[in-house]
Amino acid sequence: MPERILVVDFGSQFTQLIARRIREANVFCEIRPPEALAEGLRGEPPKGVVLSGGPSSVYGEGAPELDRKLLSFGVPVLGICYGMQLLALGAGGAVRPGKREYGRASLRVHDSGDLFHGFGGEPVQVWCSHGDHVDEPPPGFETLASTPDLPVAAFRMAGRPVYGVQFHPEVAHTPRGAEILRNFLFRICGCSSDWTPGAFAARAVEQIREAVGGEACIAGLSGGVDSAVAAALVHRAVGDGLTCVFVDTGLLRKGERALVERTFRGRLGTRLVVVDAATEFLDALQGVAEPERKRRIIGERFVRVFERIARDLGSQARFLVQGTLYPDVIESMSSGGPSAVIKTHHNVGGLPDDMDFELVEPLRDLFKDEVRRLGRELGLDDAVVGRHPFPGPGLAIRVLGPVSEDRLAVLREADAIFLEEIEAAGLYDDIWQAFAALLPVRSVGVMGDARTYENVVALRAVTSTDGMTADWYPFEAAFLRRVSARIVNEVAGVNRVAYDVSSKPPSTIEWE
Ligand code: XMP
Repeated sequence: MPERILVVDFGSQFTQLIARRIREANVFCEIRPPEALAEGLRGEPPKGVVLSGGPSSVYGEGAPELDRKLLSFGVPVLGICYGMQLLALGAGGAVRPGKREYGRASLRVHDSGDLFHGFGGEPVQVWCSHGDHVDEPPPGFETLASTPDLPVAAFRMAGRPVYGVQFHPEVAHTPRGAEILRNFLFRICGCSSDWTPGAFAARAVEQIREAVGGEACIAGLSGGVDSAVAAALVHRAVGDGLTCVFVDTGLLRKGERALVERTFRGRLGTRLVVVDAATEFLDALQGVAEPERKRRIIGERFVRVFERIARDLGSQARFLVQGTLYPDVIESMSSGGPSAVIKTHHNVGGLPDDMDFELVEPLRDLFKDEVRRLGRELGLDDAVVGRHPFPGPGLAIRVLGPVSEDRLAVLREADAIFLEEIEAAGLYDDIWQAFAALLPVRSVGVMGDARTYENVVALRAVTSTDGMTADWYPFEAAFLRRVSARIVNEVAGVNRVAYDVSSKPPSTIEWE
């Protein structure tokens, strides 16, 4: 068991970012809800506890509280924003409600001892997002830093490793925030950077074995990095108990099935079953235009196919392995979760209630870049690890509006040209994801002196580190001109090409 930090989630939209920053320092951390704090402190105690921010006011009705026992364990504590306010309140101090402060602030450090080691001198930029704040250090606490609007931007309990910061060290807009967190981890908690992809793999393998026992598992393999890494982990855990299934949904890109077969057959060390289910997916999608319905239909079809395969194999496979990542979970979660529903990812909210499987989702807490590191650790080829993400619902959510074989065929050709040109220009690895979408409108054009009234293709290419935020890729004009000319000339039925210059947020990466 690696050393661990416990992150207590009071509902902040940044809780996962805190966890990421900690893991980037190669320290393992777990996120727990406030009710599970006592349980999280049992057994081998964590090296430290971080209390996240949250949307509540400490005085609000039903606001989450801090288990007072925490301070009696003697473990180092860092409260961030709401977490700091809870510490202040628990120590008999006051929290001043209602003074909203969002955005950048200039932090002056008064004590560059442990938490702010290396921060003497000039003020540094920090980022705030709070309604309430602490005006005076509670009894027994001392002020470590302040901003023009916050007399107590950071405090410490005298003689104890208990700290609070009112700003958010975990966000990118606090440029030296990672340093503050590292000071907490290494100077205050005494952590030793022992959490690496190798350590994660070993732990995940152990947990999978425990969950699955000796039973058979089926892994849906899409050809993308997530499902490949999930399958590789489960294969390590259960060996021949795993069967990988690649479903040809009829919603794949040009040449995808052949590529996946070539890449994976005989490579993962497991059986690979390829299922042709195009007719059943397309029939189920007939006339469906609404993106959420498309995802649900596809999520259910996948499960039905897997159930059938499990029966055909004569195995009693009870477990279905999915490469679900943390962003899929966040964006699919409804109220009560940390954020609003953005899209019901087909493999999360799109699953039928009556399915025969229990899920094995070893990557559910990871972001894509972490999965890629893990994939390398597991020895997967760079070609697999570095592939652009491709959503499970495939081209169904890139043919906007109702899906048909004809429209899929048009999209497939346009998309293949775009990707071919990106590879030829040596840009593939600079881009997080690139694809074409077929818009549900027709436009007027003129070709060979005649009027045309045909399809519009939108091209989308973005940069990102985890798919949660993204920016459009700034191709050179000559590149776009070349791709546009090729698509209009080579793909029958397209007379216009548009390039999507929207970031996420406010747009999303996929159009549906
Ligand atoms: P959005 O469009 O939400 O996409 O900005 C973020 C990332 O998730 C992929 N995506 C999906 N993947 N099932 C998946 O497996 C889905 O339903 C789904 N919707 C979006 C998208 O391609 C991008 O990489």
